[in-house]
Amino acid sequence: MHPNDMSKSNLISSYELTQAGDRYFDGLADKFSRSLYQAPRGELRLAMLDYLLPTMLQLNGQKVLDVGGGLGQQAAWFAERGHAVTMSEPSEEMLNYAKHWHRDVKSLPEEAVTYVQAPLQSLADQAPGPWALITCHAVLEWLGDPRAAVATLSTLLASGGQLSLMVFNRDALRFSNAVKGNLEKALSDRLAGKGKRQRLTPISPVTHADIEQWSAENGLRIETVAGIRVFQDYLRQPPTTPVERETLLALEKQYCRQDPHWRLGRYLLYTLSKPEITE
Ligand SMILES: C[S@@+](CC[C@H](N)C(=O)[O-])C[C@H]1O[C@@H](n2cnc3c(N)ncnc32)[C@H](O)[C@@H]1O
Repeated sequence: MHPNDMSKSNLISSYELTQAGDRYFDGLADKFSRSLYQAPRGELRLAMLDYLLPTMLQLNGQKVLDVGGGLGQQAAWFAERGHAVTMSEPSEEMLNYAKHWHRDVKSLPEEAVTYVQAPLQSLADQAPGPWALITCHAVLEWLGDPRAAVATLSTLLASGGQLSLMVFNRDALRFSNAVKGNLEKALSDRLAGKGKRQRLTPISPVTHADIEQWSAENGLRIETVAGIRVFQDYLRQPPTTPVERETLLALEKQYCRQDPHWRLGRYLLYTLSKPEITE
């Protein structure tokens, strides 16, 4: 099964936040797959990650922990490049989906991915590492306490290790609301979603200032940052032909790391490192 073939019969109808205020994606897999990965924005996100990750990370076949791995695309990306991947995900529905899809991907080595059904908060017990490489993409904004999550990720990281962190950008959310005419919403800064029903507006959008602060609090260094989808959401005329889509991708690649453009990327992608302990 491919992420695009998710059947509605697999849905679980539980739309509640957890006690910690997190939004697990049980009941959302189909919508998430349709509205992101079957749409041009998901395609662009994957193309940008494919372009950026080899330049932003030092990849040498090290083991990877993918936290909140969702439908499994990032785990597959690393496994196809020779990394042993542990994919953790609290939603049974998302994890099952990833497992089924991975089984069908011919280029994926058998048993390249180990699956752990667990939230980030219990990984210190269930996948303690320490890990030389951790990815946590588009997860913090679905947590009640994203700041505590950065502290947890830091404890899982080996000294000298790298954390690839991607977060939903609160400043871009304000900007896109204004562009869409939701001026009151932008003015009053009521930007966060509530995590109810099948809404995919994140409950805890994050700013660059948050990441600067939370990294510093945990002794993590920001090595690099890029904006993902700097232009796409603001286009008045979305591309309609393959040539136009290629041109948009080229534009996104050209400016994703340049000031001021990266700051309004729909997502902010960071490489954070944990300094080596020196005697
Ligand atoms: C927007 S999806 C991102 C999935 C994937 N990382 C990606 O980039 O496509 C957010 C994921 O975070 C998961 N999640 C929610 N709360 C979590 C928690 N406490 N720990 C780990 N993952 C969590 C959800 O179940 C969902 O699969």
